[in-house]
Amino acid sequence: MTIPLSLVADMGTLDDATPGVPSPDGAGHRPVLLTPLIESLQPRPGQIAVDATFGTGGVTAALLERVSPGGRVIAIDRDQSAVDAGRARFGADGAVEIAQGDFADLEAIVHALGVTAADLVVFDLGISSVQLDDPARGFSFRFDGPLDMRMDPRSGTTAAHLVDSLTADELTSLIRDYGDERFARSIASRIVRARERSPITTTTQLRELVEQVVPRRFWPKRIHPATRTFQALRIAVNHELESLERGLQAAISILRPGGRLGVISFHSLEDTLVKNALHVAAQNCVCPPQQPHCTCVHRATLFLLTRKVIRPDSAELATNPRSRSARLRVAEKLATDG
Ligand SMILES: C[S@@+](CC[C@H](N)C(=O)[O-])C[C@H]1O[C@@H](n2cnc3c(N)ncnc32)[C@H](O)[C@@H]1O
Repeated sequence: MTIPLSLVADMGTLDDATPGVPSPDGAGHRPVLLTPLIESLQPRPGQIAVDATFGTGGVTAALLERVSPGGRVIAIDRDQSAVDAGRARFGADGAVEIAQGDFADLEAIVHALGVTAADLVVFDLGISSVQLDDPARGFSFRFDGPLDMRMDPRSGTTAAHLVDSLTADELTSLIRDYGDERFARSIASRIVRARERSPITTTTQLRELVEQVVPRRFWPKRIHPATRTFQALRIAVNHELESLERGLQAAISILRPGGRLGVISFHSLEDTLVKNALHVAAQNCVCPPQQPHCTCVHRATLFLLTRKVIRPDSAELATNPRSRSARLRVAEKLATDG
């Protein structure tokens, strides 16, 4: 079955499993919200920037231009192929170092490179369009490929393994909680029945199964019906929310006083986690509101520079409609951190 083009073209909503945005010429990944990101971070020559999600290096390049001369960009990506391509691109430039790893381990990765504090940290979450558009990676229901979805294909559990091994209840929770899918239970039950006949190992098998389960009249208007199930599996396979939680804490910890943190998210689970983490870090007290006196030892470490989230403006939306799910939040490390 072919996927209607109207659904394919509209894959950039907040609920999308595939937030990577391709560059207009089809080469690499065009970062979204790059102008507001750079304007709010205000990189300066001599600074040390950490790009926690290197991808194809668009953000790294923009940071490098502004921290030069004298500055450095330390970039991280889970995906060894992104790291290899990045080293080939920036290899000659001693000011860029690219490390393979999970940004959950950001502090250890940066320390291992001899750096103890950073002026800027950026997260541009999700997957790149290079990963998305590679059928062998199994991220997209637009292509037939193995149901893999690992950002680091050298380790961890594949989506096929989760689909094959989780119970119906576990699959229901996963698809409902990470995909906000109202047909989660029916999809999970169908997966369990189908895998008794033969294992579900490809993106096409899963896409067709979801298409059969979700009644046509309930197909979402702007996204393919399998979008939410694919998003849920990708989040689970890569432990995305756990990594993000740890990565944000590591970023806050490694920032110098006055240093800035920018986070671009692409779906509501990510954005809510980012918003809550930054809000808590910006509070001087986290005692329950009904408690008359503060007994916590929590002290604010961040100042929120974006009280309201930054979204793509009309010009960016016009040139890149798929950027509309992106949200940017920026904070500054306080001079006294407790
Ligand atoms: C949206 S892309 C970033 C695009 C990049 N800003 C650019 O300009 O090309 C996200 C990248 O972050 C990587 N990534 C996602 N989660 C990660 C994690 N927990 N640790 C390290 N890298 C991660 C993905 O492999 C992907 O390459």
